[in-house]
Amino acid sequence: MKTALITGISGQDGSYLSEILLEKGYSVVGIVRRNSTTLPHQISNLQNVIDHPNLKLAYGDLTDQNSIQRILTEHEPDEIYNLGAQSHVKVSFEVPEFTADVTGLGSLRLLESIRHTGLKTKLYQAGSSEMFGGMTKEPQHEPTRFHPRSPYGAAKVFAHHISVNYREAYDLFVSNGILFNHESPRRGENFVTRKITLGAVSIKLGLQKKLMLGNLEAKRDWGYAREYMEAVWLMLQQDHPDDFVLATGKTYSVRDFCELAFNSLGMDYRDYVGIDEKYFRPSEVDTLIGDPNKAREKLGWEAKTTLAELTDMMVKSDYDKIKKTL
Ligand code: GDD
Repeated sequence: MKTALITGISGQDGSYLSEILLEKGYSVVGIVRRNSTTLPHQISNLQNVIDHPNLKLAYGDLTDQNSIQRILTEHEPDEIYNLGAQSHVKVSFEVPEFTADVTGLGSLRLLESIRHTGLKTKLYQAGSSEMFGGMTKEPQHEPTRFHPRSPYGAAKVFAHHISVNYREAYDLFVSNGILFNHESPRRGENFVTRKITLGAVSIKLGLQKKLMLGNLEAKRDWGYAREYMEAVWLMLQQDHPDDFVLATGKTYSVRDFCELAFNSLGMDYRDYVGIDEKYFRPSEVDTLIGDPNKAREKLGWEAKTTLAELTDMMVKSDYDKIKKTL
């Protein structure tokens, strides 16, 4: 039985990936941080697997090298998925140093731990389309120049480059994913898609009157998170480490997403959505659109779920969830 270690297991991506790996017969170890919210709340995304006999949780932290090294020595994972991060772009402007520490240096600590323990393992480093910053008009692919527009993006660029460096310098098996935005009913509530679906449903059910957002003109390439985690697993099943863009190849604005979400509840977003400058970012990534050709050719992967299907899935899930509490 193979063992996989996941940092960021309690997040959207970590929960889908753990389900996929457990279904494939892996033993999964998830790193969780000690914080003031209770563990059941912290791991609510893991409801489907929390009682699985092959899932273990271990306390550790990407800012604590000793904890990582201890977990590596104890569990000797065959594969490591580094999904842990301070992953909110706007928040990274408020806590840039913390973001650099967790999102950037956290990846270096993992690499150093692998090197020092001498473990023969494969590492997946979760990179982001925020590294491109959307400064080209063409769809962004692996060779596109990075131009991060936030402390988060800059930290991810560091993590990407240091991963490539350790691959070249020490012959470690490290693959970088460059994932464009990927959403689901498990998306954190302060990311724009989930904020919109939750807001629209709350308005529909009479719990809220308005939904305040920031820049409605930003465009993103949005896919379905579970499908992206299938591709992440495929990256570590290759004979050689490599870097891959995962995207749908289509881009829509935040305004388009509002239209889809409110329409699916029979409402017109223009009657409910307002703008609050506090949600604007000091520097914005205007347009992201990925070119996933390499992943299609080498991994045989492509995104299947359309944005309309994804929006419907998220709206329905939020509707059912909120309705139950009324
Ligand atoms: N969060 C948020 N809240 N974003 C808003 C709002 C709002 O009220 N109003 C407009 N937006 C705009 C943001 O300015 C941004 O242009 C866009 O909506 C998407 O914002 P997020 O959903 O917060 O995601 P992100 O694109 O900044 O970053 C996400 O995707 C990256 C991959 O490209 C995060 O998941 C990152 O961790 C990930 O790497």
